[in-house]
Amino acid sequence: MSRILVTSALPYVNGIPHLGHMVGCLLPSDVYARYQRMLGNEVLYICGTDEHGTPSEVGAAKENMPVEEYCTKYHNRHKEVYQKFNLSFDYFGRTSTPQNEEMVNHIFTQLEKNGFIEEKNIKQVFSIDDDRFLPDRYITGTCPHCGYDKARGDQCENCTKVLEPTELINPRSTISGSTNLEVRETKHLFLKLPLLESELAEWVKTKEPYWPDVAYSIAQKWLKEGLQERCITRDLKWGFAVPRAGFEDKVFYVWFDAPIGYIGISKQWSDEKPNERDWKSWWLDAKDVYYVQFMGKDNVPFHSISFPATLLGTRENWTKVDYLKGMSYLTFEGGKFSKSEHRGIFAEDAIEEFPADYWRYWLMSNAPEASDSSFSFDGFAGVVNKDLNGVLGNFVSRVLKMTASKIGTEVPAGGEFQTEEKELILQLQEKTNNYLKYMKDMEFRKALNELRAIWVDGNNYISSTEPWTVIKENPERAATILRVCINLIRIFAILSAPIMPETAEKMLSKLGYSIKEVTLSDFNIAKEIEAVPAGQKFEVGDALFERVAPEKIDELKVRYGSGK
Ligand code: 2FM
Ligand code: ZN
Repeated sequence: MSRILVTSALPYVNGIPHLGHMVGCLLPSDVYARYQRMLGNEVLYICGTDEHGTPSEVGAAKENMPVEEYCTKYHNRHKEVYQKFNLSFDYFGRTSTPQNEEMVNHIFTQLEKNGFIEEKNIKQVFSIDDDRFLPDRYITGTCPHCGYDKARGDQCENCTKVLEPTELINPRSTISGSTNLEVRETKHLFLKLPLLESELAEWVKTKEPYWPDVAYSIAQKWLKEGLQERCITRDLKWGFAVPRAGFEDKVFYVWFDAPIGYIGISKQWSDEKPNERDWKSWWLDAKDVYYVQFMGKDNVPFHSISFPATLLGTRENWTKVDYLKGMSYLTFEGGKFSKSEHRGIFAEDAIEEFPADYWRYWLMSNAPEASDSSFSFDGFAGVVNKDLNGVLGNFVSRVLKMTASKIGTEVPAGGEFQTEEKELILQLQEKTNNYLKYMKDMEFRKALNELRAIWVDGNNYISSTEPWTVIKENPERAATILRVCINLIRIFAILSAPIMPETAEKMLSKLGYSIKEVTLSDFNIAKEIEAVPAGQKFEVGDALFERVAPEKIDELKVRYGSGK
């Protein structure tokens, strides 16, 4: 048994998650965690809300609320909607907790002790009208690299380049819109990344055979450009206090405490679950832990460069990322999701419209892996109607209804397997091997293609063997075919479980099983196809899926803005 640590990038607490966030790291990490658990591995799957920094301060001010209260309100909204999407975190925590503060202080103290922290006077943009410094998102302007005119002071979301507020062209205050700005001197703390550069480069190099090309090349690009000292403090009120005299008005930068949040949240989990193996066993001197991180591609530099360098600088043996899955973006009907423009379907609305598995299946089959992908209601309905309702749902109801009406609600015995079954077993074994390999490699689109092809094989088998005709001449043969088909339902359920856990549970429960008692370990079709014994009771029950009607698609397009 291996130990797998899985983290999903921590969503900003102020952002209402849309389908792009769901597929950008949350869902793929869940599918992977479920898959690893079903292999029998010990998994710790951690996520939580990223709460510090300007976005929360700006959001709280807009809602006229204390920032702590604001964060709690939105943390709960995130937590609730992720539960509805069946994300199986071992713990969904927060970055603003005492546990995380303890981690941040510890890591900072180590860095300081080891000579990786420097105090410097720097020039910062000060807004005269707002009477304050304008860090990060408090300042907006034109990106000096790509010309995007709404670049924020910390990063340009168009070209993903990390920025310093003073680099922006035509800067303005995000708070008041004022351009009455001046540059003033103030002192800040810097992480001396250049001192860690060669060590980091060596560490990154060891990842070349393992990391996906996109992640590896982003890290290499950063190293090639040469690492700069990184400012880790900010002129804000909301954040962790900096344990150094003269820094009473400053806090740690959100990007310093957010990745440490993975560890802080693990400690939160440990504090609440004292009977589990504790957080340290996952994070410190944890030689047997394999660590996989999921994130949007704009987060890759922080996870492949700044965070590992921070951990290296502590001179302690922290668990660092072994595999980093950076996802591209999902667009909405070819454009951007935007809450303010009422464009796009957000997770809270999505889950009111259709069950979680419809979304989980569509999103994972269209995951933006190699490049961006686009959501459209027509495409979504097409996939639900064809793959889920037409192929999988139809197979399950056809098999169970036919067996119940022609033979009864117990699995029939039948006789020996013939050429058709032997061929089917070979075909399915090959596809299953591919599916499991793609899941292991986190190539989700390819994995889902195989899964769909496995369901199609089941449909082809029943169509070509025609048990409804055969039963008239040879009831024993028909019974064999139907027994195989019932076993296929169980096989399809187990293979589909990481992606569609509710549907898998429904399928298994029709046959008297539950997800908890099945495994993907040593998944051998020849054995699995005999697993449901003759005589076992089954229930036909309800259909697994409902077709999406064309009128419903039209209605959704109007409601969520793609018709405009
Ligand atoms: O880009 C984002 O949504 C960040 N909140 C991700 C943080 S990931 C981790 F470092 F905490
Ligand atoms: Zn840019």
